[in-house]
Amino acid sequence: MSNLVRFGVSIDEDLLHKFDQLNEGIYSNRSEAIRDLIRDRIVEEEWQDGEEKMTGSLTLIYDHHQRGLTEKMLQLQHDYHHLFKSNLHLHLDHDYCLEVIVVQGKAKELRQVSGMLIGLKGVKHGKLTLTSTGKDL
Ligand code: NI
Repeated sequence: MSNLVRFGVSIDEDLLHKFDQLNEGIYSNRSEAIRDLIRDRIVEEEWQDGEEKMTGSLTLIYDHHQRGLTEKMLQLQHDYHHLFKSNLHLHLDHDYCLEVIVVQGKAKELRQVSGMLIGLKGVKHGKLTLTSTGKDL
């Protein structure tokens, strides 16, 4: 772990008050809230870059009655098996399924392949959430 550095910040009192209110009950101290903001900004940069290795989850809601859909979903996951790490499947009701897939790889490729899955006919909603692998945080 690197050395801790203390630094002073000049900030408008109202703005600081709003920040503290947002973090009430979430963070035990202001320093940790500020550290998380900085980390979030770093992760966002990695995501924009596209070449960094990221980890995250792809959540899909789909109608399993849609003809050929589950086969197409499986085929895509096998075609890009280096990106797909683990699946969680829930049968939501008679028609709909929820699939949460843990993904890992370059942000650019994850976005492209996730887009292919989300774009399949019968997928009602899909969302890719990426975070850092954590090594540079
Ligand atoms: Ni199901």
